[in-house]
Amino acid sequence: MLGAGFTGRRFAQALRDRGARVRLTDRRGPRPEDQTDDWLRFDPSAGEVPEAHQLEGVTHVLVTIPPNAQGSDPVLTTLSRTLASLPLQWVGYLSTTGVYGDHGGDWVREDSALRPRLERSQARLACEQAWRSSGLPVQVFRLPAIYGPGRSAFDNLRNDTARLIHKPGQVFSRVHVDDIVGALMHCLAMPPEVRPETVIVADREPCPSSENLGFAAHLLGCKLPPWQRWQDVGPTMGPMARSFWSENRRASSELLCDSLGYTLRYPSYREGLRACVNLT
Ligand SMILES: NC(=O)c1ccc[n+]([C@@H]2O[C@H](COP(=O)([O-])OP(=O)(O)OC[C@H]3O[C@@H](n4cnc5c(N)ncnc54)[C@H](OP(=O)(O)O)[C@@H]3O)[C@@H](O)[C@H]2O)c1
Repeated sequence: MLGAGFTGRRFAQALRDRGARVRLTDRRGPRPEDQTDDWLRFDPSAGEVPEAHQLEGVTHVLVTIPPNAQGSDPVLTTLSRTLASLPLQWVGYLSTTGVYGDHGGDWVREDSALRPRLERSQARLACEQAWRSSGLPVQVFRLPAIYGPGRSAFDNLRNDTARLIHKPGQVFSRVHVDDIVGALMHCLAMPPEVRPETVIVADREPCPSSENLGFAAHLLGCKLPPWQRWQDVGPTMGPMARSFWSENRRASSELLCDSLGYTLRYPSYREGLRACVNLT
């Protein structure tokens, strides 16, 4: 697992539950709660890169590390020779639906036009392309906003960072972290020759963020923050927050669910949030 963050850790746990041996990388190294022999430090900017012998026998790799500040892929720039020396059967690369850019609220599928406008999405697309040209058995997963236990509208409501913003026509796509794990497992179990090169993993109900927040507040039984209009608050937002609102698209999981036969555990934010509230 290259990058043991929110999704990487969850996937690692699912693999361990199935009896697989998992090696994880992190920039900080293992945290006290994660004491295991299988942690490796990977922090290329500090010159910390695993040696080939530490990855010996690895057959499957999941890359969850985004492009670095320079826009290049930290794994490919430092580890590609080592990866090429391993008997790899599968390399999953977690990308984002940001590579599609703005589609005016239309559905996007794997073969939709790629017109990233944001610098980070252009870098992401370049990294996707670099992985595809790496000669490794790469499968790219494009993800919308990831949520799950400890990272959802509940957390924003609890720590007072939630904002109830209305922008007419604006929707967001999301995916529960356990559906990413489920989709990865599903694709891993497929024969290599029928695995699609690119798969979108998203729930089936993109919606305004106010709808998602409203449902979370209803489940918590708490008050919503005051309602704000996009045209009033947009100009006051920081560039990162504003960039999320600058694009509008619905990510389709038709390929994953209808063609590849994956059944979403959380087909909408309603099931997903209910599951999170029971855990938090
Ligand atoms: N979060 C979302 O809503 C979302 C949506 C679409 C796509 N994605 C993409 O999907 C992937 C997984 O998302 P996530 O939310 O699970 O990610 P995450 O929790 O941020 O975990 C990313 C992991 O990559 C490591 N990392 C980041 N930059 C690195 C670098 N330059 N060198 C070495 N390690 C580095 C992080 O280490 P540290 O713990 O040391 O930072 C962490 O272990 C990411 O590529 C993300 O950009 C995320």
